[in-house]
Amino acid sequence: MSTLPLRPGLAGETPYGAPELDVPARLNVNENPYPPSQAVIDDIAEAVRAAAARLNRYPDREFPALREALADYLAVESGVRLPWQQLWAANGSNEVMLHILQAFGGPGRVCLSFTPTYSMYPEYARDTLTEYVALERRQDFTLDVEAVRAAIATHHPAVILLASPNNPTGTALGPEELHAVLDAARGCGPTGHDGAPTDAVVVVDEAYGEFRRPGVPSALELLAGHPHLAVSRTMSKAFGMAGLRLGYLAASRQLIDALRVVRLPYHLSAVSQAAALAALAHRDELMSQVARLRDERDATVAWLREQGHTAVESDANFVLFGPFEDRQAIFESLLERGVLVRVVGPDGYLRVCMGTPSQMEAFRCALTAVTRP
Ligand SMILES: Cc1ncc(COP(=O)(O)O)c(C=O)c1O
Repeated sequence: MSTLPLRPGLAGETPYGAPELDVPARLNVNENPYPPSQAVIDDIAEAVRAAAARLNRYPDREFPALREALADYLAVESGVRLPWQQLWAANGSNEVMLHILQAFGGPGRVCLSFTPTYSMYPEYARDTLTEYVALERRQDFTLDVEAVRAAIATHHPAVILLASPNNPTGTALGPEELHAVLDAARGCGPTGHDGAPTDAVVVVDEAYGEFRRPGVPSALELLAGHPHLAVSRTMSKAFGMAGLRLGYLAASRQLIDALRVVRLPYHLSAVSQAAALAALAHRDELMSQVARLRDERDATVAWLREQGHTAVESDANFVLFGPFEDRQAIFESLLERGVLVRVVGPDGYLRVCMGTPSQMEAFRCALTAVTRP
């Protein structure tokens, strides 16, 4: 054993990650339960085969073809048409958001977020030596806009991270909340290198954006008037491509150009680029499961309520439910019955992600057995 000079902030830290267990109903990491069809598999395999012939060369550093395909997808999904230069991509939206913190965070700077929320946010801050400040959401998981304004004025955050729909609550931000944060962020970031005030960067993390209910707007619609807004998306959830590791972000060119400075050269492999392009060509088919998963989610909320549980109305592909006196015991009993959920969120609550109809049936049977012995 050697004594290694571990950075002080890392002492006692453990690697992030939910249990990876091989059980019939893996409903714990918000994946899409439907594997790609044979046609998608074949096209991805063919694209990777073609890319393999050029693997002696580094990949395209700026990947305009993939950024264009992502822009096309967003235009169809959200009705917002952007030039490819306003798109960025990396290995999962985790890496995209790390790029944001690398470009705008750092020592002496603050990242502001609102709990309960995605548990990787403090890690992006830790890894970039950025101070993480978390403000509690209200009881119903909405933002207390006055408290948010006050926190922004006090901390002058460089980055504000807002997941919408939020993980683990499933709740989406309303347009008033979003406008209030964007307005409060103006001129309230840290002092710039020229001594002038800056606008805090507001990241709306829409990893689950495609699952939002009709009438819930996407923050993409606000990009035009807000150069300090970044909207993060991923192919891991609705698109059913978690194994691909492809996340992306839409923002002003000025913001994207800052991310291009901090990315590692050739960060997106030629294999990832080829596979993502091939998958995007099948967007209609891959997205066709989204409506099914939304219906499953609404039915699950209704069923949980019928059973006497509290279930939070969700715009994502998962539902937060409870409360249980001993949620760990419920988690373990479900696991014994082959159903893996997540112990996360407020005390007493569990999160279940939408699976196939048979997996959801297994969840319902297991929960009934466990809560009414
Ligand atoms: C809110 C939120 N953002 C981002 C991510 C990361 O997604 P990925 O890195 O797979 O794109 C997740 C994953 O669970 C998430 O819940």
